[in-house]
Amino acid sequence: MLNFEYQNPTKVLFGKGQIAKISHEIPSDARILIVYGGGSVIANGTMDMVRKALAGRKITEFGGIEPNPDYATLMQAVAIVKEERINYLLAVGGGSVIDGTKFISAASCWELGDPWEILNNQGKGIRNVIPFGCVLTLPATGSEMNHHAVISRKNRQISLPSASGSQGYSGAMSMQSSIESEKLAFSSHKVFPQFAVLDPVVTFTLPKVQIANGIADSFCHVMEQYLTYPVNAHLQDRFAESILLTLLEDGIKSYQQPEDYDSRANLMWCATMALNGLIGAGVPQDWSTHAIGHELTALFGLDHAQTLAIVLPATMIVRKQEKKEKLLQYADRIWGIRGDNADEVIQQAIDKTIAFFGSIGLGSKLSAYNIGPEHFPEIAAKLLKHGMTGIGENGSVTLKTCEEILHTAL
Ligand code: NZQ
Ligand code: ZN
Repeated sequence: MLNFEYQNPTKVLFGKGQIAKISHEIPSDARILIVYGGGSVIANGTMDMVRKALAGRKITEFGGIEPNPDYATLMQAVAIVKEERINYLLAVGGGSVIDGTKFISAASCWELGDPWEILNNQGKGIRNVIPFGCVLTLPATGSEMNHHAVISRKNRQISLPSASGSQGYSGAMSMQSSIESEKLAFSSHKVFPQFAVLDPVVTFTLPKVQIANGIADSFCHVMEQYLTYPVNAHLQDRFAESILLTLLEDGIKSYQQPEDYDSRANLMWCATMALNGLIGAGVPQDWSTHAIGHELTALFGLDHAQTLAIVLPATMIVRKQEKKEKLLQYADRIWGIRGDNADEVIQQAIDKTIAFFGSIGLGSKLSAYNIGPEHFPEIAAKLLKHGMTGIGENGSVTLKTCEEILHTAL
C-alpha cells in the first residue's frame, strides 16, 4: 500500500426529511446565498423545503448555474457575494451547482488577480474561502463530499498549440487562435463542503438520462482509482469492488424503478463514496479517462458521463497490457469471469462493461455523436494546452496513446 494522509471534514446528513435540519448547520447570524441551477429544484419542491428550513434567516438567492457551470455566470454570483456581504453559501442541486459554489466560494476571496487563475493553477493559491454546505439532488459526482470542482468557460478567444505534420501528435507544433470552450478542474482542501444533505427522495424527479449519467460517473470514478496496478491495498480494492457491485445491482434497479427508495439510497451513497477520497487513499490513480472526457465535453458538448462511457472501454482495450493484473481481478470479482486465456478473459470483461453502459442507454462509440478522426488533432491540441501529455497512473498516456484510445472508440 502507498503512504497516504486522509481527512474528510464534510458532515453527511443522509435520508428522508434531513433538509429540515440545515438550519442547525449554518451559523445563526450568517448572510446566506442559496445557489441553484436551471430551476429543477424549484419545480420539484426541494427549494421550498430549503426556504422553510431557513425561515427567518438572511437569505439571497442566485439561480441559473448551468450544467458544466460557466465562469461568466459564476462571476455574477461573486459580484452578489461582495455586494450583499454574503458569508455563507448553500448549494442546492447537482454536481454543477456544487462545483460552481466551490468556485464562488474561492473566487469571492481571491486576491491574486483574475480568478480564472484558480483553474489555471488547479486550485493552488487558494487561501481564504466563504464556507458553504450543500443539498444534493443528483447522485453522480461525489462533489458533495470532496474538494474538487470542474468549471467551464465558454466561447473565449484562446491560443491553442496545433499539432501538425505526418508524425502524429508528436509532430511540429504551432500556435493558432481559436474561439473555444475550456473545461478545467481545481482542487483545494479549503473547498470541502461543511455539510451535505443527501435525501434520496429529492432525486426521484431526475430524468432517466441523468440517473444513467450518475451511475456511469460513479462507476468510472471507482475505475479510475481501482483499475491501475496492484499495490496490495486489499481493503481499498474490496471497497472499490463493493461499490461497483452495488452500482450494478442497485444502480440498475434505481434506473428501472426511479421511485424505489432503497435502491436510490444505495445509489446515492455509492456515488458519494466513489469520490470522497476513501477508496483512493494509498492506491495509484489513473484519471486519464476523465481528462480526455473533459475535452470532449468542452469541444462537443457531450454530457460528462457520456464521454466516460466512450473513453473507459477504449482505455481498457488500448492499455490492457499495462492494466493486466487489475483487469483480471476486475473480470473475476465483478463479472465472475475466469479462464486460462488472459486475453479472452479481459475481452469478455470489457464486453460486459460496454453492455452495462448500454443497458442504461449509454453508448461507447464516438461515431454515435458524429465525432470522427478529423477532430482528433483538435482534441490533442487541447490536451497539450492543458499539460495532459503524460497522464494516467504511470504517466504513460501520451498524446499518441490518447489518439489510439479515440481511434478505438470510433
Ligand atoms: O439545472 P437544473 O435545473 O438543476 O437541472 C439539472 C441539470 O439539468 C438536473 N437535475 C439535477 N437534480 C435534479 C435535476 N432534474 C430533476 N430532478 C432533480 N432532482 O440535472 C441536470 C444535470 O445536472 P448537473 O449538476 O450538471 O449533473 P452532475 O451532477 O452529473 O454534474 C456534472 C458536473 O460535475 C462535474 C462534471 O464535469 C460536470 O461539470 N464533475 C465534478 C466532479 C467533482 N466535483 O468531483 C467529478 C466528476 O468527475 C465531474 O467531472
Ligand atoms: Zn466524473
